[in-house]
Amino acid sequence: MSFSISDHQNSKRVRVIKFKESDLDRLVFPFKKHSILSLEYKPFSRFSLAKSLDEVFQNKLSKTLNDILNDRNTGTAIVEPEIKNKKFDKDFLVKLSTGLAYLIGNPNFDSMTGKYYARFHVKHQDSSDSYLRKAYTNLDLHTDGTYVKEKTDWIIMTKMEEQNVGGGESVILHLDDWEYLEDLSSDPVGQEDFVWGSPKSKNVDYKVEHPVFSKDKNGKPVISYIDQFPEPKNMKQGLFLQKLSDALEQSKNKISFPLPVGSTIFSNNYFWLHGRKAFKEHSGLSRELLRIRGTFFN
Ligand SMILES: [Fe+2]
Repeated sequence: MSFSISDHQNSKRVRVIKFKESDLDRLVFPFKKHSILSLEYKPFSRFSLAKSLDEVFQNKLSKTLNDILNDRNTGTAIVEPEIKNKKFDKDFLVKLSTGLAYLIGNPNFDSMTGKYYARFHVKHQDSSDSYLRKAYTNLDLHTDGTYVKEKTDWIIMTKMEEQNVGGGESVILHLDDWEYLEDLSSDPVGQEDFVWGSPKSKNVDYKVEHPVFSKDKNGKPVISYIDQFPEPKNMKQGLFLQKLSDALEQSKNKISFPLPVGSTIFSNNYFWLHGRKAFKEHSGLSRELLRIRGTFFN
């Protein structure tokens, strides 16, 4: 009647939380009370769903997640539910991710889908306007929410399904493990305001301004960065971003791993960066991901 918790095999900063099938079974009934539509339309229903998730784990899951997500030494949890049985379908995974989110905070409105969450596919062919769905190129290390006004304290990424997949491993990097942090975060250009826009598919019709690096309440550097969206206004900013991009991708301290279907990466978005390796080419490639981004309650 409890989850297990351990260090990820590749990093002590990443905590792996496993849910047993017998505990997931106890979620089936309370989850049935809410349809996906009611969760989308009635925000309060997401809170009661989350409470039922916490209750299955004697109200210890919320504290554990909050502790991990707010601790600079960790900041990432990978949640691995044992979902071999078909009854744990995609709707179940949407509900589980929703429950996890609402134990931590409030999701932001996701303009790409007009909901509190987004589901999207990566396939063999793609005509979209961002790297998100480009299967055969790396999705370079970045944080989320760089181009929106809302704060993005945390992100959830859940793998809903995959078919004919080779490669495409998740890649994450803790800022304090990055060899170039001191060099880049102390560069005055990194503390200047940059203009951040976004391509059409994101449905955000404004631009924002903020620096790449700022400081948390303890004076430690935090980052808000993605390669595609800052609009450098001069040579100095352009060259800084190129140096930053190269220094992130060159890091030897990136952690990469295959994320099991049904599992969730739950990360603090200020000191963890995330990305994905390229997939191996396959005409039947299909992978679906769910994401939720939001702010902490407190
Ligand atoms: Fe992202």
